[in-house]
Amino acid sequence: MVTDIADQSNISDERLAHGSARVEWIRSFMPVMQSICDEFEKTLPFRGRKIGVSLHIEPKTAVLLEVLQSGGADIIATGNFGTTQDDVVAHLESLGMTMFGRCDDSFDVHRGNVVNVMKSRPDIVLDNGADLYAECARSGVASMIVGGTEETTSGGNRLRSELETAVRFPVIVINDSPLKAIGENKHAVGQSIVESFMRITNFMVNSRRVVVVGYGWCGRGIAQYFRPLGAKVAIVEVDEIKALEAAFDGYRVGRMEDFLVWSEVFITATGEDRVITGEHFGKMSDGAVLVNAGHFPWEIDVDRLRKMAVSSVPIDATMERIDMPNGRHVILIANGRMMNLSGHAPKGNSVASMDLGFALQALSLERIAMIENNLLPGAQPVPDDIDRRICRMFMAVLGSEM
Ligand code: NAI
Repeated sequence: MVTDIADQSNISDERLAHGSARVEWIRSFMPVMQSICDEFEKTLPFRGRKIGVSLHIEPKTAVLLEVLQSGGADIIATGNFGTTQDDVVAHLESLGMTMFGRCDDSFDVHRGNVVNVMKSRPDIVLDNGADLYAECARSGVASMIVGGTEETTSGGNRLRSELETAVRFPVIVINDSPLKAIGENKHAVGQSIVESFMRITNFMVNSRRVVVVGYGWCGRGIAQYFRPLGAKVAIVEVDEIKALEAAFDGYRVGRMEDFLVWSEVFITATGEDRVITGEHFGKMSDGAVLVNAGHFPWEIDVDRLRKMAVSSVPIDATMERIDMPNGRHVILIANGRMMNLSGHAPKGNSVASMDLGFALQALSLERIAMIENNLLPGAQPVPDDIDRRICRMFMAVLGSEM
């Protein structure tokens, strides 16, 4: 079957060319990362270090991995569950990185990828969602690890609860940085969720009734960017103080039950499990759209929804119509995965926001790699001097020198 082999190799050449072109385009809009790359090429902070990585694999994260490699790191990486872009994997493999994970991996295969990264015995970890740290705790390989970083809210929460005693080395939680919360979680997630909603559904936003579940950094941003486009936004939030803030910000605030019939779109951004579940699905208005923006794909209880359904039919690669026993239906987006990073041609958060966020990653990992880094064991925020240095670099890019 010579033709099959030739076809396969054409596909992989095309995939590589496509991935490399996309990474090159994105790289050209990450000036802060470029200046860190220039510095790392000279200082080689990761010479002799192996960095184990779990991240959404897309062009912006690829630039981060390139920058770490330019600093001398050997990179062993897996994508997060359900968001891996195979053309970007091909690009990173062509640079000599060891990559596990493909777009259509099942959850079991994904688990195996996480195990494989830790089996390669990295001495530094770059995690997103704390899957690698959980595996490190489970398999008892913690003793080789000098430290690491954690990118997101959900991973930071796990490091401070179930993994607190197991992780005995310093882990800098990038999400704790005010720069990341403002630049990415609020403004970039807000914009990219609205962009993805419009692109995926092709719906008009004006007058659309939207419930945002969780008024933390991401929820605030999502609400903030839907409203000026004419949406009617309501908030469900369990923390009284944030609920009051949402009310002061001018949103309707209530319990999920109050909005089940009213709302046309439900967007979860809590980082918690099953915030929309069996008691809610059957009472929603006909055609309600279910969207998740949180890290893990179980904020919407998709398993329960499927058990309750009488039938379901894919509308396209990202949207699915799910028919309920009461004759109504709901539209599930990206099978409950993060809408801005899943589905057809996802763009994720803006390049500039990730130039900012990944500069925090790169300089925090450099700090971890220093022998005398003065960091204590356990989860901790980004050191203040790193936050302030990146602020100055980014303000300069914006043309506002400080
Ligand atoms: P946060 O901690 O600032 O906010 C979460 C909010 O949800 C809190 O105010 C909390 O009180 C509320 N909440 C928790 N359970 C709830 C429930 N059952 N009902 C209503 N409200 C509830 O967290 P942040 O930074 O906003 O992150 C939220 C999620 O988004 C996390 O999973 C995070 O990892 C993820 N994330 C997603 C990104 C994306 O590109 N889609 C980017 C950054 C973070």
